[in-house]
Amino acid sequence: MPIAKSTAEAMSRSSWIRKMFETGIVLKKQYGDDKVFDFSLGNPDVATPFEFDRVLVAEASKTGPFLHGYMQNQGYAETRATIAEHLQNEIGLPFTADHILMTCGAAGAINVILKTILEPQDEVIVIAPFFTEYDFYIENHRGTMVIAATTPDLLPDLEDLATKITSRTKVVIINTPNNPTGRVYDRALLSELGRLLTQKCNAIGHPIYLISDEPYKRIVYDGRVCASPFQFYRHTVLTTSFSKDLSLAGERIGYLALSPLIEDWELIMRAAIFSNRVLGFINAPALMQRVIRQVLDLQVDVQQYQRRRDMIYAGLVECGYEVIKPEGAFYIFPKSPIADDVAFIEKLQQQLILATPGIAFYKPGYFRISYAVPERVIEGALPGLRAVLEQCTQNK
Ligand SMILES: Cc1ncc(COP(=O)(O)O)c(C=O)c1O
Repeated sequence: MPIAKSTAEAMSRSSWIRKMFETGIVLKKQYGDDKVFDFSLGNPDVATPFEFDRVLVAEASKTGPFLHGYMQNQGYAETRATIAEHLQNEIGLPFTADHILMTCGAAGAINVILKTILEPQDEVIVIAPFFTEYDFYIENHRGTMVIAATTPDLLPDLEDLATKITSRTKVVIINTPNNPTGRVYDRALLSELGRLLTQKCNAIGHPIYLISDEPYKRIVYDGRVCASPFQFYRHTVLTTSFSKDLSLAGERIGYLALSPLIEDWELIMRAAIFSNRVLGFINAPALMQRVIRQVLDLQVDVQQYQRRRDMIYAGLVECGYEVIKPEGAFYIFPKSPIADDVAFIEKLQQQLILATPGIAFYKPGYFRISYAVPERVIEGALPGLRAVLEQCTQNK
């Protein structure tokens, strides 16, 4: 076989994404783009703010030596200093430019930190349902994935998490606002999590790093502010990006921030810069780093996502689906009316509705709808969602 067995095996595990994508192409060809209700992708579609475009054009118009050249692998010092200042104001910890590494998105940041700290077979705990790429990122760096559970309201089950922590645990990954549930962890939950991890670190005699993956942090609803674990746990590492809150997913710009309270943060940062280089990222895109520095206070119009959240949530409840109202991100994760979520999404496909089964997020019995789609798509899909639910309940 021309490709590695491990890659072939990983590809087969990630086949859901490919399957949905291929089904979408076939259905759209057969019935027309506007007849297919595609909720399978998390590709942000709300326009970037006009001010972003203005800054981008101004930066792109500049000429001069090395404007598009390599810079320090850590990223431009001015960009990092501005991000550090923002973090300091928001969190109250003494972040400096030295605590920040500019990365190719949150995905780049997660890979960099895992490569930097994992020994082979070190355990990395994820909480299901979770963004399934974590599985592959952990494998990239020879870690072992351990899955902890959520409570019935789809928040981390700390009792279960406590039982999953062993002397081999090196990392816990959390993601708030969450993909796929849309849930946001509040201060009380993060504080309890911080207490648990501190206690466990003391018991096992080495730090457990908490990777807080927060690319949706500023997409929160009803006036909420997303709390940060930095305030509750010293070994916290933030991975984030501007993919979602500025709709820049294709530009691959994000960053990693180490808590100033981590004892060996300087050594870890030196190693992370090396990892960023040898993973082949070298540095984050130059032009985007210069633009981002000037627009850190900007974000897309979150009200647009909130309106869609209201629409899809009300619609699903009205149909009779069991579902928790999302507090952030642009996903909703209802219960499948039949235990077999794959059979359920196949029924949705017969109504030209594309959604992702819970099994793709290690949480069977649910399905994910991404509402990064125009309101007319939500409106158009509701009759089909209702029909499939009725079909399933009649056959029960
Ligand atoms: C939870 C989560 N983390 C990380 C990423 C990666 O985002 P990016 O690398 O574009 O910042 C995504 C993308 O969908 C995500 O949903």
